[in-house]
Amino acid sequence: MSAQQPRRVENLHTDKGKVPVYATGIVAQPWDDYTAEDHATWATLFARQREILVGRASDAFLRAQDAMGMTPHAIPKYTELNRVLEAATGWQLIGVEGLLPELDFFDHLANRRFPVTWWIRTPDQIDYIEEPDLFHDLFGHVPLLMDPLFADYMQAYGRGGVKAHAIGADALQNLTRLYWYTVEFGLIRESGGLRIYGSGIVSSKGESIHALESAAPNRIGFDLERIMRTRYRIDTFQKTYFVIDSFEQLIEATRPDFSPLYARLADQASIAAGAVVEGDQVFQRGSGEGWADDGDV
Ligand code: PHE
Ligand code: CO
Repeated sequence: MSAQQPRRVENLHTDKGKVPVYATGIVAQPWDDYTAEDHATWATLFARQREILVGRASDAFLRAQDAMGMTPHAIPKYTELNRVLEAATGWQLIGVEGLLPELDFFDHLANRRFPVTWWIRTPDQIDYIEEPDLFHDLFGHVPLLMDPLFADYMQAYGRGGVKAHAIGADALQNLTRLYWYTVEFGLIRESGGLRIYGSGIVSSKGESIHALESAAPNRIGFDLERIMRTRYRIDTFQKTYFVIDSFEQLIEATRPDFSPLYARLADQASIAAGAVVEGDQVFQRGSGEGWADDGDV
């Protein structure tokens, strides 16, 4: 067990199930308190994912991870990663207890601060944990912040989040779907095939293979409005992955003011997580094997 425990304030019971609520302040990473077991968990996950990801993850992701100096030997110190990251793109990691309220999260991103959970999962959670921990945040999200284009996209997303939050719940939901299907579960065309760049995929052994090699999911070309209408799964592998051509495409498509788009989308029905609709650029139509038929968010 970790010497310290995250300060969970309460659990909210919502239509998405039990949602943990954490203290929202910035915390210093209690690096000296990590146990040998914590470091071993990092080492196991790091080595396992790197082996799977060479040839599967975007080269930009793998190169950035190397450039940051992350290694399996020990849980990295945020202060050391920050020296490299700040010099590269001006981003900075901050330690947090866990998932933040939306507006706090957006405000951090808008100011080029990425919140990273300070605690790591326990050995019995090696293959699956339902909320972000240090491994997901650090291994999954932080490397691409070294990439100048992706670094700008994340900041623009944060600013867009502050704006969407002020517009209302529907706008926020549209924007959250964009984050889900790009930052968390995005695929990119690269080297004549598909590669992974989404953090939710790269930090998961099972989904790293599923996202590229399974016949079950749809793989569909990136389309901003289509994504903003598409529900998603938080409890299973994704039924649909969206594929970008490049980070430039992502940035260009998301540069315009979303306000008129939110207004237009307000009248349109949402699309089921596993649906293929007219106009989709279909790379692969999923077989749907093993899909649960309820539970889209
Ligand atoms: N252009 C978006 C807006 O006006 C902001 C944004 C940029 C959102 C990048 C997501 C990603 O709201
Ligand atoms: Co994440």
